[in-house]
Amino acid sequence: MNTAEKERNKRLREVKKENARRYRALKKEKKRKIPESEYLTRMKDPDNILEIDNLHTFFYTDVGTVRAIDGVTFEVPRGKTVGIVGESGCGKSVTSLSVMRILQEPQGQITGGEIRFNQRKENRAINLVKTPQKVMEKVRGGEISMIFQEPMTTLNPVFTIGRQLDEAVELHSEKMSKKEVAEHSISMLKLVGIANAEGVYKMYPHELSGGMRQRVVIAMALACSPDLIIADEPTTALDVTIQAQILDLLRDLKNKINASIMLITHDLGVVAEMADYVVVMYAGRVVEQGTVQDIFHNPTHPYTLGLMKSRPNILGGEGDRLYSIPGNVPNPVDLPNYCYFHNRCDQCIAECDGPFPEMVALSKTHKVACYRAAKKEVQE
Ligand SMILES: Nc1ncnc2c1ncn2[C@@H]1O[C@H](COP(=O)(O)OP(=O)(O)OP(=O)(O)O)[C@@H](O)[C@H]1O
Ligand code: SF4
Ligand SMILES: [Mg+2]
Repeated sequence: MNTAEKERNKRLREVKKENARRYRALKKEKKRKIPESEYLTRMKDPDNILEIDNLHTFFYTDVGTVRAIDGVTFEVPRGKTVGIVGESGCGKSVTSLSVMRILQEPQGQITGGEIRFNQRKENRAINLVKTPQKVMEKVRGGEISMIFQEPMTTLNPVFTIGRQLDEAVELHSEKMSKKEVAEHSISMLKLVGIANAEGVYKMYPHELSGGMRQRVVIAMALACSPDLIIADEPTTALDVTIQAQILDLLRDLKNKINASIMLITHDLGVVAEMADYVVVMYAGRVVEQGTVQDIFHNPTHPYTLGLMKSRPNILGGEGDRLYSIPGNVPNPVDLPNYCYFHNRCDQCIAECDGPFPEMVALSKTHKVACYRAAKKEVQE
């Protein structure tokens, strides 16, 4: 074994030892009884349903620490849809798994920041980062529910749709009789546009098409009238015509149930149609955020501009050729100490060699983390 190999093996052993220490610390923390005073908090703005504040979520792996979420801050106002966009691996799903507190443990851990949730039903606000799992069980499904990309990850193939829907309803509404629960489940199936609701109630997941299954998953997510719905690529696994139907359904439902939606997608078209606010993520950070008008009419971060160009017919889309941003996302185990977009950016200025740019407000709603975009605004 040569010296370089020995050095590498030594480093790997150190990483494993350090990770084992962190896993033990997490195990110990999970056994601790957490008093309410540790997780009760106050919303910065009571009109928000969710406030993510300087969130850090890391994965302690054998090859090193993956800084999946590296200081993310954004808000979800009550009754509004916030679209989270960015390339594959930028941390969209890990953000939602952090909110739900369903990260793959012990590797995945929230290491810093707050996730404030406005628990309207309890008339209080809680910091989900510190909330004990017992309380989280009530929050999940009852107040925040999640729609995943692939409906079969949510549906159990061996139980009927009715049984699974009933279970979701019962979990958070103990006072209902069996008959009332079944009626509620069937009314949810009708709400999501399933014509033969009584029939589907008795069917198994494999008897339904992909689009129907996703409607069922949406019905399950709505069963307890949550205040926040997190939809992670809810239409990506469906074919194009069904995608449009499911998006129409979500938009229609949002108005009916007055819930907030955190919509995760890599499709800017979906965001333009559905969202009130947009958060653009890159390599575990937010690089630009604003209203849907801010982002689509006045995009300023070179990465956002690149995303816009990579969609045909938006901003100078030339012919039918799809623009793709040259270069790659930096390795999340070894992130640079300057702007993460530096190696792909064609608009660098001298300041870009400095530390990662701070988030600068361009207007009341529009913010960007880019030296050039901030400077341009000051000069104008
Ligand atoms: N269980 C895990 N162990 C180690 N690293 C992980 C794990 N889950 C996610 N990551 C890493 O965290 C980063 C963010 O991943 P995430 O799944 O949030 O991306 P995403 O934006 O949802 O991408 P996509 O559009 O492909 O769904 C990636 O670098 C990913 O490799
Ligand atoms: S800070 Fe500089 S390198 Fe980073 S996106 Fe802005 S112009 Fe490009
Ligand atoms: Mg994802």
